[in-house]
Amino acid sequence: MNSTFKNEIHQGLSSDPKTLPSKYFYDKKGDALFVEIMNLPEYYLTRSELDIFQNKTQELIESFGVQKNSYFELIELGAGDGTKTKELLKVLDQENYNFDYFPIDISANALALLKEDLNTEIPNLNVQTQEGDYFKILASLKNSKQPKVVLFLGSNIGNMNDSLASTFIYNLGVNLQAGDKILLGVDLIKTQDIVLPAYNDSKGITAKFNLNLLDRINNELGANFDLSNFVHQPEYTQKEGIAKSYIVSTANITVTIKATGKSYTFTKGEKIHTEISRKYNDAILNKIIENTDFVLQHKITDEKEYFADYILERN
Ligand code: AVJ
Repeated sequence: MNSTFKNEIHQGLSSDPKTLPSKYFYDKKGDALFVEIMNLPEYYLTRSELDIFQNKTQELIESFGVQKNSYFELIELGAGDGTKTKELLKVLDQENYNFDYFPIDISANALALLKEDLNTEIPNLNVQTQEGDYFKILASLKNSKQPKVVLFLGSNIGNMNDSLASTFIYNLGVNLQAGDKILLGVDLIKTQDIVLPAYNDSKGITAKFNLNLLDRINNELGANFDLSNFVHQPEYTQKEGIAKSYIVSTANITVTIKATGKSYTFTKGEKIHTEISRKYNDAILNKIIENTDFVLQHKITDEKEYFADYILERN
């Protein structure tokens, strides 16, 4: 059993207010639920960024500042199934750009499927899958000294608070050289009537996704959460620009976790904070990169201006 998992769960449930880390959403069931979320009508994020990759492909490529006759490396952090990136890869391939694609993911299975799919759809493309920790892999890729473009899409950075996001981008810079780029996909601040339903869909998939965390603790740490005592609760105000997900206890209950050997009490209405999904604008992003080696070079939005792909350049 994973002791980091156990320790972080114990720590979160012992805190006041209680928290649980969103990174633990993604077990097998959580992965499948997230795929369902991406296909929900309310979850506009994926479609908005796909719109950019389909309809602003030339602008994306121009922002990379690469010449057709000089080699570069296209690296993707958390590549997933590559649906959006494929739109870009196809055009780069058709237009005879000289590059290799390095998708990095923690899921070996996702990488294998992606490679197989790309080999069929874009046979010319050299795909070098890299399984594991982003920074370890970037450190190893650093040896090549080739120009690099790093993709970090899907507003995945939104799960980090601004201080963590800043450290994350700073650390990317440590593994890159002057002129290298980050293509950072982020969800933009907009009204509550659009954002909130994306985290509170009518089919209840997001609720299942959030509550699956308790199921995972039951299964992997021998806990006795009764899921019928807990409900999903998202919150968002445009003023703050951060969607927050909570699990709320609907009764006074005590839960025991075998792996920690401890009991945890929940009062009726008590909230466990499980996730932040930060939304951005230029000012927020500029503040985040302020003490990094990157400058904001370009911004590309979808037609509705729901989502942006920012190009950050390493000094
Ligand atoms: C994968 C982090 C971009 O925050 O929008 C979707 C995860 N959580 N629905 C997001 C998520 C609830 C998603 N990210």
